[in-house]
Amino acid sequence: MHLLVTGGNGFIGRRVCARAVREGHEVTGVSRSGRPEAGSWTEDVRWIAADVFDPGAWRDALSGVDCVVHSIGIIAERPQAGVTFERVNGDSAVLVALEAERAGVERFVYISSSTKPPLVREAYIEARRRAETAITDLEMDVVVPRFGPVYGPDQPHFPEIANQLFAVVGALGPLARVMGEDRPFAVGAASQAVYELAVADEVPSNPVTATELSALT
Ligand SMILES: NC(=O)c1ccc[n+]([C@@H]2O[C@H](COP(=O)([O-])OP(=O)(O)OC[C@H]3O[C@@H](n4cnc5c(N)ncnc54)[C@H](OP(=O)(O)O)[C@@H]3O)[C@@H](O)[C@H]2O)c1
Repeated sequence: MHLLVTGGNGFIGRRVCARAVREGHEVTGVSRSGRPEAGSWTEDVRWIAADVFDPGAWRDALSGVDCVVHSIGIIAERPQAGVTFERVNGDSAVLVALEAERAGVERFVYISSSTKPPLVREAYIEARRRAETAITDLEMDVVVPRFGPVYGPDQPHFPEIANQLFAVVGALGPLARVMGEDRPFAVGAASQAVYELAVADEVPSNPVTATELSALT
């Protein structure tokens, strides 16, 4: 298979790329800064340094792609730079999904969120839900895993104390399950679940929530 991962150099995206490479798939990663310094496996990925909002810079790479994984989102806005929840968490997914559909891609996996992180605008989750609805009836398999917090050694979003707290909760299965759909996931498990959703013959119906995601890890 050929997978294209937007945000392919990010916290989750790079692990999806690494796993796909290990399994022998052809992999393309799209992000503004291109190839990450993340090990020798990165040599086996075609990295395209492009802004997704400039589709002319990357749409040719969709030729022959079987599955697009969209792994772009923010937790902190910079409105002066146009970096808002509406645009990055919502519009980017719709734009990439439309490009994928037009290119004849068979499956689109949109990494979404189960809930809004504390202290951020409702727009964070409203943009997610709007994008999920907008892409649901496109002419390809659309798969929407919704994750709660994803923790790991190099996670870039929340303070280290929160990262460690999520790790403790995530390691205690029963405690994590009490949190239902919003339970924390280790980044290794989250990226494995996303990879499985990208390549599986059969996928669960949307949204794909924590219980189903756990079963894929
Ligand atoms: N981590 C979590 O706790 C968590 C929980 C639930 C859902 N999610 C969702 O999972 C997805 C991946 O999250 P993550 O934690 O892996 O985030 P991340 O590490 O910040 O990765 C985001 C990626 O998007 C790229 N990107 C951002 N803006 C872009 C643009 N305009 N054009 C092209 N690439 C762009 C970044 O690379 P460049 O800067 O090089 O462009 C980076 O590779 C996001 O949608 C996130 O909201 C994450």
